Amino acid sequence: MVRSFTTLLGGVAIAATLVGLTSGAQASADKPVIGFSIDDLRLERWTRDRDFFVDAAKKLGATVTVQSADANEERQISQIENMISRGVDAIVIVPFNGKVLGNVINEAKQAGIKVVAYDRLILDSDIDAYITFDNERVGEMQAQGVLDAKPSGNYFMMGGSPTDNNSKFLREGQMKVLQPAIDAGKVKIVGAQWVPEWSATTALQIMEDALTANKNMIDGVVASNDAEAGGVVQALTAQGLAGKTAVSGQDADLAAIQRVKAGTQTVTVYKPLKSIASTAAEIAVDLVKGKTPAFTTELDNGKKKVPTTLLTPTLITKTNWDTVVKDGFYTQAQIDGK
Ligand code: GAL
Repeated sequence: MVRSFTTLLGGVAIAATLVGLTSGAQASADKPVIGFSIDDLRLERWTRDRDFFVDAAKKLGATVTVQSADANEERQISQIENMISRGVDAIVIVPFNGKVLGNVINEAKQAGIKVVAYDRLILDSDIDAYITFDNERVGEMQAQGVLDAKPSGNYFMMGGSPTDNNSKFLREGQMKVLQPAIDAGKVKIVGAQWVPEWSATTALQIMEDALTANKNMIDGVVASNDAEAGGVVQALTAQGLAGKTAVSGQDADLAAIQRVKAGTQTVTVYKPLKSIASTAAEIAVDLVKGKTPAFTTELDNGKKKVPTTLLTPTLITKTNWDTVVKDGFYTQAQIDGK
């Protein structure tokens, strides 16, 4: 009898552990398991976010399972469902499309899993927290950098991905800065397009068409990230306009820092990825442990007022590009291409 009771007890223990994992209860109080669901690791910055996040989470005693959706919303949804069934304690999400995750996030919440939106807001969903840089401020910096270089002339607005909620915030900031110059008749917007997946190739094609349509008379391009800026500069170079037409960007990609240093890109915006990644890890672990993180504000995502932390971005120009070396984001050798 004792043997069978022990066997029964063992069976119950195993079942409880499995249930524990599937119910979102952490393997142990101080060893949370976090799922990191990323839109697209093919864009340079996100590999840096991933590495900084995994490192910070480890220091907090957590383990991280990372998945890249390669810019595919169905794939991202099934990857998140897989994390839920594996019983993670928290899911941190960089959404490819912030409008389609409401149902899968409900499933996560029903399983007792905490959900954090990383750098991009997830709309109409019951997320527990949102952490990002002030994207409207980034847009203002981008537009101001181009306007300072080219106070008047024809401008092209190269928007972010239409599925990325940040693109809207960026555009609001960009137009806030440009509107007075437009109203004064100094700046004319000769074209504006959103760029799916923030693709450098698509930005190149859009820019080639815009230069043709405007007989190369484009004085400023407000590009919304560095991948796009790279495509824009390639199109300008083919017309002998690199370094003449002002171009903005964002992310302080290595190639962008090299372009800013060389004068073919006017500005980029540096967002200390180590700070967003480590803060996101702290928030996720605190939420799993039932602690309330310190947030800086709250943002309405269409379903609720989301506790939010907004971090401050830094404008990078020809005069302060070494900020990224001082900050340890790149080595001088990397920037020199050695
Ligand atoms: C945006 C983010 C930018 C940039 C872009 C992709 O959501 O705010 O920093 O990373 O994605 O390059």
